[in-house]
Amino acid sequence: MYRSRLGTDLSDITLDYVSSINDDSQIALYDILGSQAHVLMLYENKIITKNDVKKILSALESLKNEKFDVSSGAEDIHELIETLVIKKAGMTSGGKMHTARSRNDQVTLDIRMKIRDDINIICNCLLDTIEALVSLAKNHQKTIMPLYTHLQQAQVGLFSHYLLAQADVLFRDFDRLYATFSHVNQSPLGAGPVGGTSIAIDRHSTAKMLGFDGILENSLDATSTRDFVAEYVAMIAILMTNLSRISEDFVIWSTSEFSFIELADEFTSPSSVMPQKKNPDILELTRGKTAQVIGNLTAILTTIKGLASGYGRDLQQIKSSIWSTSKISISALLILKSILLTLHVNEKEMKKAAEYSYLIALDIAEKLVQSGIPFRTTHKIAGGLVQIAHQSNKSMNKLSMKEISKITQETKIDPNLVMKIIQSTTVTSSLKERKSFGSSGYDEQKRMIEDRVKKINDYRISATKRDNDISKALDDLSNKIIELIK
Ligand code: ARG
Repeated sequence: MYRSRLGTDLSDITLDYVSSINDDSQIALYDILGSQAHVLMLYENKIITKNDVKKILSALESLKNEKFDVSSGAEDIHELIETLVIKKAGMTSGGKMHTARSRNDQVTLDIRMKIRDDINIICNCLLDTIEALVSLAKNHQKTIMPLYTHLQQAQVGLFSHYLLAQADVLFRDFDRLYATFSHVNQSPLGAGPVGGTSIAIDRHSTAKMLGFDGILENSLDATSTRDFVAEYVAMIAILMTNLSRISEDFVIWSTSEFSFIELADEFTSPSSVMPQKKNPDILELTRGKTAQVIGNLTAILTTIKGLASGYGRDLQQIKSSIWSTSKISISALLILKSILLTLHVNEKEMKKAAEYSYLIALDIAEKLVQSGIPFRTTHKIAGGLVQIAHQSNKSMNKLSMKEISKITQETKIDPNLVMKIIQSTTVTSSLKERKSFGSSGYDEQKRMIEDRVKKINDYRISATKRDNDISKALDDLSNKIIELIK
């Protein structure tokens, strides 16, 4: 339809190469809504007549339920929709739909509308997953486990503490996406191909009709930039690395060597040969798909970085990277939530592992500090005690007075005091005495859980408000249209 300046049509192979029609199925509805707001604005500003707007709006309305024929020969959804509108409304009216606009402001409008919806969906999925983490944490405030650094046992901790750490990570993902939304939700509509239009349009009114918070003022910026796409996909790439890390923890903990957790059957896969296998494929795929999202981000950044200002067709290629990123993150969050809610936690194994090693060594050193001994000295004593216990393959509370004296002899410290402290220190006492803000201590779990439950509710209120603001604007638009075309 647009090739009036050009002599020949595209060959099938070139059309297939140039066309984005398959990727465009994801933005078809947004394209219709954007066109409706645009023509309504044209009518309200006396640029087209009531008769024109009624015909165009009716045609667009009927297209909302249409299954588009992607083999129609159109280069993209914008061309296809305009062709269909002209077919339904006639050239005299339908031919006016594209007045004072361009596919360049149209496509970026559609992408912005799609991403803002995806952000809202993902924010809600994040809150559901955080809720699952916090509710599991509630049940595991007494579940003792080792905490690791370098994947070596480090300190005694609680499973709730681990789960709450992941909840906090996801709260930050929410915050990041929430901030990105404000950069995305700005309308480029009416910017035209690059430099605006001589027709007296009202860009603010279309922005309002479509639920945008404002407009991208500079028409060159509005049509060229895809920084909002890069930002969105970067935020999701960070989110995915966080989910990937949780997946990796769970993969390790579900091995028979660890046996800390068992995944529900529905989140595991069998082997084609080894009948006993229960593989954590689903979590492995979160790791794998994270790589794919990072690849999407790389594809987007490399597309943008060398592009001259103004629209370039290269930009068409980034759409599939956006869709894939959204789909992966939504599924990964839904699946993780279900994994958490069906997880079997092997509390006995977790505690056994925490007791088996010398995780109370730091607690013993800290208790000696409370008798006025410098930490560097108490660290040395506790280290010496671990060494002897390890050499004779026994736990610290089985050390004899003679063995303890051997360690304390260089210092003036009373071996009886050391013996008393060792005897009264267990993994449980250690967690009772762990008091610092945000620590693995028992008391801190209760406080943090209460706080995060409240935080989830506050975040839900803001997420719902954003959803509602957009729905309200689009409902108003729809009512206006129905009123006009009835
Ligand atoms: N299909 C194009 C895209 O996805 C739409 C914009 C085309 N604009 C143009 N001037 N060729 O980016």
